[in-house]
Amino acid sequence: MALRNVRIDGDPVLRKKARKVEVIDDKIKDLLEDMAETMYDSEGVGLACPQIGILKRLVTIDVGDEHGLLKMVNPEILEISGEQVGPEGCLSIPDVRGFVRRPEKVKFKYTDIDGNEQIIDATGLLAVCICHEIDHLNGILFTDLALEGEEAEMYEKLYYGEEE
Ligand code: NI
Repeated sequence: MALRNVRIDGDPVLRKKARKVEVIDDKIKDLLEDMAETMYDSEGVGLACPQIGILKRLVTIDVGDEHGLLKMVNPEILEISGEQVGPEGCLSIPDVRGFVRRPEKVKFKYTDIDGNEQIIDATGLLAVCICHEIDHLNGILFTDLALEGEEAEMYEKLYYGEEE
């Protein structure tokens, strides 16, 4: 297994739509393993395949919850509800944080490495993360969605406190 180079904002590959994976062979399994290794090495909680320069609909996530490491093929959102706003960052946009409005609950499905369909009802951080990673598969970065102006300032104060 190997660490992969994470592509940085400005690289055109991050703006392209990734293609569906039709067959889960050893190459795909190795790719997901490399993605997980790269994600942990960079101390990220999620990684989408375009971030290592390959336009396949593959995502790894580990938000430290009961699901552990999720290796996902063709993840897809089924239902969303509610709303949450929180700070986000991205391995492809180093040293940038921004507040993004996301659904509070996200029901999503994916195919696991054994070819079985899995469905997860996510809330909180996992809900944010799956939205962020599926956006990557569609060429969208969180900075496209981040709040601006007074609204952003309000959340910054709420999260980080008033500046001295
Ligand atoms: Ni990201």
